[in-house]
Amino acid sequence: MSEHEQMAHEASARIAGAADLNALEAMRVEYLGKQGSISGLLKTLGKMSPDERQEKAPAIQSLRQTVADALTARKDELEAAELEARLATETLDLTLPAPAAPKGSVHPVSQVMDELAEIFADLGFAVATGPEIEDDWYNFTALNMPESHPARAMHDTFYFPDTAPKGGKMLLRTHTSPVQVRTMMAEGAPLRIIAPGRVYRSDSDATHTPMFHQIEGLVIDKGIHLGHLKWTLETFLKAFFETEDIVLRLRPSYFPFTEPSVEVDVGFAIENGKRILGGSGDEPGHGWMELLGSGMVNRRVIEFAGLDPDEWQGFAFGVGVDRLAMLKYGMDDLRAFFDGDTRWLSHYGFSPFDQPTLSAGVGAKA
Ligand code: PHE
Repeated sequence: MSEHEQMAHEASARIAGAADLNALEAMRVEYLGKQGSISGLLKTLGKMSPDERQEKAPAIQSLRQTVADALTARKDELEAAELEARLATETLDLTLPAPAAPKGSVHPVSQVMDELAEIFADLGFAVATGPEIEDDWYNFTALNMPESHPARAMHDTFYFPDTAPKGGKMLLRTHTSPVQVRTMMAEGAPLRIIAPGRVYRSDSDATHTPMFHQIEGLVIDKGIHLGHLKWTLETFLKAFFETEDIVLRLRPSYFPFTEPSVEVDVGFAIENGKRILGGSGDEPGHGWMELLGSGMVNRRVIEFAGLDPDEWQGFAFGVGVDRLAMLKYGMDDLRAFFDGDTRWLSHYGFSPFDQPTLSAGVGAKA
């Protein structure tokens, strides 16, 4: 065996026995690194005479190739072994229970809005919308509240500095009533809509938040009268609260955009300190709770919206969605609705999966 073959033999044996990748790398440096022994041999070729080089070069090249191949082979082996070892320790136990995935829930306000949309859909009402950043004209003027009308002061309005296209300032709508005007202007008559959405007033305590939710109702047709309003409200409240035992009291009131205006109260009894809807509020131990504002649409509003009030009449109502949710589902602090506390939501919220129907529907017996 030549000297070079002897070297190749020894090196291959050592490399094949390298215990791990670090040891192997040390050997690579020892043989083929810049200062390595085989690199040293290769460098001597440059100083040889052409004849000598021709004689010695093949043996040295072959030595280098043998060692390089041995290094690659051992490296593959060691890496495969390392992978095996890792796979052995990292096995998955598929019988272990999976960690619970967090499940979202439907906010009570969304739930109630969906229920109301469903109930009013049964009564032939479409859903209409309007902007929350509103023009003074739609929020006030067209609703028969000209500038300096005292009713404006009752709304604690958030104004923007920007001038509105139709005069006055832009503002955050204080009620959903501007959608009445927008829809009449866009769609004309006859009309049967509800308009759910956020409204804003600068007010904050246990029963008031600066942002809250209303649903507006509007019917415009021929020969509409207060009886239609009363039947519609009764039918919707019975369906919503899922009881036939709903007694309403209509009280004269004032809104600039309805004439006459009617405040609607619902009778309740007190059981174990809790208000339970049902019965006349005039019975002993009972009371009346203010529920919503409504009335026959003021002729002036119908005119502002470009319709002829001698031809078209209608009724409108506006009801607080948050208040309805509190009443139906027994929540007592309005502020918690908008705290974003997921514990509150998982307590009062609704599963998006367990509710195949949203409400009992119109005319269903409780
Ligand atoms: N927009 C009134 C409010 O926010 C409620 C209302 C709506 C009253 C429609 C009458 C008719 O107080």
